[in-house]
Amino acid sequence: MEQKVIIEAKDLIKTYGEGEGLMYALNKVSIKVYEHEFLVIVGGSGSGKSTFLNMLGGIDKVDSGVIDVLGDDIVKFSDKELTLYRRDTIGFVYQFFNLINDITVLQNVMLAPGARDKEKAMELLKRVGLEGKENKFPRQLSGGQQQRVAIARALNKNSEILLCDEPTGALDDTSGKAVLELLEEIHNEGKTVVLVTHTKEIAGMANRIITMKNGKVVSEEVNDHIIKASEVVW
Ligand SMILES: Nc1ncnc2c1ncn2[C@@H]1O[C@H](COP(=O)(O)OP(=O)(O)O)[C@@H](O)[C@H]1O
Ligand SMILES: [Mg+2]
Repeated sequence: MEQKVIIEAKDLIKTYGEGEGLMYALNKVSIKVYEHEFLVIVGGSGSGKSTFLNMLGGIDKVDSGVIDVLGDDIVKFSDKELTLYRRDTIGFVYQFFNLINDITVLQNVMLAPGARDKEKAMELLKRVGLEGKENKFPRQLSGGQQQRVAIARALNKNSEILLCDEPTGALDDTSGKAVLELLEEIHNEGKTVVLVTHTKEIAGMANRIITMKNGKVVSEEVNDHIIKASEVVW
């Protein structure tokens, strides 16, 4: 089956430092993302995973390269276009949740402009298993529950693409697995998920697995033996 490419990153270069201290966080990285796939990018700490995901998410800028997302090269976007892109096109889930701690769970989910429909936000909280928690503050919830709030917030954008940076990295095994099961369901409902992690066992649930090392892609494979999130052990 011919699959549609929705993101095509080509020859991405991102350096930090200069002179003797110059280092390549991304050294000619080319990665395609196919519509509706669950792509897992694995690699050790410092291999460039977060840098890559932040470029896709329009959070940071590359030195050179092309990032075609649904037909637009976001590298050429103005700051204003990037703001809209981050708001409308991409959902982001971070290792440390990035919730705002002095507003409620519901207010976090409704934070973005265009995300102000309360009924929909309540529905999403129910969807991620947090019915009844809407008026709590993030600190009153467990890490796993906070990550679910972050996922509900990301889902509230109706974006087709969900980018997850070590979404289980700050969680205990049980809540980590519950978050993976939720991401699996969201993928099955039609979202494209790109998850980066140093936990290679998580790659078992991917449709496709890309391995990064020292700012480069070192392998790329289709996963012929996809396992359920509930079967991931690490
Ligand atoms: N803001 C920054 N300033 C300097 N170096 C950075 C910065 N961000 C990332 N790096 C470096 O780039 C490399 C890749 O980092 P990162 O993308 O965070 O790796 P990973 O997410 O795979 O652990 C690392 O060597 C890291 O130290
Ligand atoms: Mg990282």
